[in-house]
Amino acid sequence: MERVIVGITGASGSTYGKRCVEVLVANGIGVDLIFSRTGEKVFTFETGISPETFISSLPQDLVKLYRADDLFAPPSSGSYRTSGMVIIPCSAGTLGHIANGTTSNLIHRAADVCLKEGRPLTIVFRETPINRIHAENILKLITAGATVLPASPAFYSHPQRIEDLVDFIVERALHSLLGKRFGLIKEWEGLPPQGDES
Ligand SMILES: Cc1cc2nc3c(=O)[nH]c(=O)nc-3n(C[C@H](O)[C@H](O)[C@H](O)COP(=O)(O)O)c2cc1C
Repeated sequence: MERVIVGITGASGSTYGKRCVEVLVANGIGVDLIFSRTGEKVFTFETGISPETFISSLPQDLVKLYRADDLFAPPSSGSYRTSGMVIIPCSAGTLGHIANGTTSNLIHRAADVCLKEGRPLTIVFRETPINRIHAENILKLITAGATVLPASPAFYSHPQRIEDLVDFIVERALHSLLGKRFGLIKEWEGLPPQGDES
């Protein structure tokens, strides 16, 4: 079974991470799920449900939950094979840890493993405005092989609901991670043919 690691941190936008996990399991892709300590709290605050309640609603054979302080867990090792990792949403704090190689929890370590093993790492960064430290960390991560995908949805598809904005980011993140399309957004096909105005 294909597996990906999903990290959910304490940045705003927990609903991106929730939707991402739902889409992965709906497509039969296994998820190794890690919440940071603040990620658990922000998730509960923003979505209105606890991580435990969320996970209990998912197929148990497809989702494995690891504690962020469990550095003995499989995603800590490069010998544990996955298709890569997405951190969604990713805080400035987690971005800084990964960019500077300081791995103090399982999210940082699993991301470090992806970079050293040459596996895809997609970071859905959520902070605004950004300072020079954020910009330098983003540059370091891009240079190291990660994709940094700001949580900034587009409006050219005329979104009608918040869910449409969330789906835009989740589709882009999963496409960058796995190179597959998940059908959450309509592909841009250019403007419809215009009548000749001359
Ligand atoms: C409600 C709430 C929203 C937050 N939103 C953001 C955010 O959008 N981006 C960010 O970088 N930090 C945000 N923070 C701060 C992080 O949670 C904090 O820096 C934390 O230490 C990050 O640790 P983590 O990456 O291990 O989750 C927020 C905190 C709270 C309580």
